[in-house]
Amino acid sequence: MPAMRLDRFLANAGCGTRSEVKQLLKKGMVTVNHAVIRLPEYKVNTDMDSILCNGKEIRLSGCRYFLLNKPAGYLSATEDRRQPVVLDLLSGEDRKNLFPVGRLDVDTEGLLLLTDDGVLAHELLSPRKHVEKTYYAEIEGIVTGEDVIRFREGLDIGEKKKTLPAKLVLLDHDAQAIPHSRIELTIHEGKFHQVKRMFEAVGKRVVYLKRISMGNLKLDETLQKGEYRSLTAEEIEGLKRNAEK
Ligand code: URA
Repeated sequence: MPAMRLDRFLANAGCGTRSEVKQLLKKGMVTVNHAVIRLPEYKVNTDMDSILCNGKEIRLSGCRYFLLNKPAGYLSATEDRRQPVVLDLLSGEDRKNLFPVGRLDVDTEGLLLLTDDGVLAHELLSPRKHVEKTYYAEIEGIVTGEDVIRFREGLDIGEKKKTLPAKLVLLDHDAQAIPHSRIELTIHEGKFHQVKRMFEAVGKRVVYLKRISMGNLKLDETLQKGEYRSLTAEEIEGLKRNAEK
């Protein structure tokens, strides 16, 4: 499918979000076959045209990689008969053959990688790779220094083995009628409902959960909930390095 809108081509190649790319076009920084093109909807032939941004040749890599800021209420799946799925948040052209790399619960928000690169997804999800994931969470109850130690030592969440050492960072808490704590937690596994089960193991309940990083990828705070962008070439390289480890 070589014909594509110029703004989509540039965004998919990692030059920026759709609105950043529109600014690049407006400023006359993009040429197609040596002519400056300012129209976002201009159709390019992705196989044949020579497309330069700021004088640098832009190409699409074979596979596609998107970072989504997942809102609550969407299943991490490609389709479902009853509930909206994360792919519903992508435009028709982008969603083809994509799938989410791993799962966030329906009520969890934040960083979700979507790709059509099955090899990379398999490597990133492999339990042997221990890809680091960090979550921001709000917890009912006061999370204590003792919890920090228990998370570091590993917890019994009803699996054969204890969880791997996890880094729990206390951000702050309000000691109101129903006390709440804000924390960040870094884990190296991806067991079903893992963060929620780890807090249950210390008698507390997660009331809000958001993934803020996975390996080298950080949740892009400029993305509103439900928005997504292509990964930059650097981010893709970093992910591939994570997967090789
Ligand atoms: N741990 C959970 O409990 N839920 C998620 O969505 C991700 C990690």
